[in-house]
Amino acid sequence: MNAYDDKHFFEEYCKLREGENYNDILETPAMLSLLDFVEGLRILDIGCGFGKTSALLSDMGAQYVLGIDISERMIAKAGSEYKRRHVEYRVLPAEDISEIGEEFDLVWSSLCFHYVKDLEQLLKDIDSILRDKGTLIFSVEHPLSTASYDGYYTNGPDGWTGYHLSDYGMEGERRSTWFDTEIVTYHRMMSTILNMLVRSGFAVEHVLEPLPDDAAIKRLPRMIREYQKPSFAVFKAIKR
Ligand SMILES: C[S@@+](CC[C@H](N)C(=O)[O-])C[C@H]1O[C@@H](n2cnc3c(N)ncnc32)[C@H](O)[C@@H]1O
Repeated sequence: MNAYDDKHFFEEYCKLREGENYNDILETPAMLSLLDFVEGLRILDIGCGFGKTSALLSDMGAQYVLGIDISERMIAKAGSEYKRRHVEYRVLPAEDISEIGEEFDLVWSSLCFHYVKDLEQLLKDIDSILRDKGTLIFSVEHPLSTASYDGYYTNGPDGWTGYHLSDYGMEGERRSTWFDTEIVTYHRMMSTILNMLVRSGFAVEHVLEPLPDDAAIKRLPRMIREYQKPSFAVFKAIKR
């Protein structure tokens, strides 16, 4: 079963997203900053979760948004809480997007691709459902975050916090526990992600490792740690 369909995990994850959180303060604004315009676009949101961003993209003027997610609980919540006239939600794994049989101007994906084992195949599938010069914008957990089997923060003698990084060059599966649930993710080096994009037919236009400003740190003080190790990497690529 997908972790996001586990009742306890799902409830805890939703609670996390209700308060001040990294997604709303740092990651979503970074992704939005890469958008030139939204009006009139047909958008595929891969791993749309409970639909907050699919609905936002629709409110910003998208012609149509298809939000897909592997989790039935996520799609059910999306359908009840983030319903919009031009947004459709569907339970569908990212690995099956070639079944959709439609063309999109923009493929958007927030914090989903590190759950996908064969990222290169997914990027090729995305390339084939994008129109010419279509855009792909996605975020992943930063490779410095996915690397360590036992990544953690420690307090140094001066009270400053340090992050224990290991195994950056050992790509592949990582098993960890989040909200008492086993999560399987895939670690890839930054160069691997960039080279996969290029091999899959994309020109990389922009890469962000978002950092919080003073206002963000005021809202969530532990975000100061982002200056030691960024949590997210965000990519914008154009179909060649
Ligand atoms: C961290 S959540 C992000 C949700 C949403 N994008 C957001 O920003 O609110 C990751 C999402 O990816 C979904 N996911 C994980 N593996 C997937 C896969 N193989 N195909 C589609 N969705 C997947 C999960 O069910 C979950 O909803």
